[in-house]
Amino acid sequence: GAPVTADISALAEGQRLIFEWRGQPIWIVKRSKAILDALPTLDSHLRDPKSDNKDQQPGYITGELRSIKPEISVLVGLCTHLGCSPEMKAEIRPEPFDAEWKGGYFCPCHKSKFDMAGRVFQGVPAPTNLVVPPHHYADDNTIIIG
Ligand code: FES
Repeated sequence: GAPVTADISALAEGQRLIFEWRGQPIWIVKRSKAILDALPTLDSHLRDPKSDNKDQQPGYITGELRSIKPEISVLVGLCTHLGCSPEMKAEIRPEPFDAEWKGGYFCPCHKSKFDMAGRVFQGVPAPTNLVVPPHHYADDNTIIIG
């Protein structure tokens, strides 16, 4: 499929824009500083905290934030278990999940949990982190997906 141009000029902190690329939902989320600060604290609870599984993101996406710009996360919005669409919980709050929950994505189908970088928690059905699609910035407010 052709690349998709995503205008993110209206994207506010804590919000998500959804685009479609190759029939898949693409989430673009602007993360708060509180969310970014929380991400490294989750590493010991995650299966692949440093994005070592190279199948789940392009080579230029590394580490804990899994993004080109720290605050902007770009993910394929499909659970890596059986492809349901996870729900976003952008705010940091311990309920209704557990004390380790610092915001993230929750898949209602079989209760997989991912953090705000799409990193999968241990002990859930999903085997891998959410996919980061190939993308780059044409300018500050424009992301080309694909
Ligand atoms: Fe998401 Fe099974 S499809 S947990």
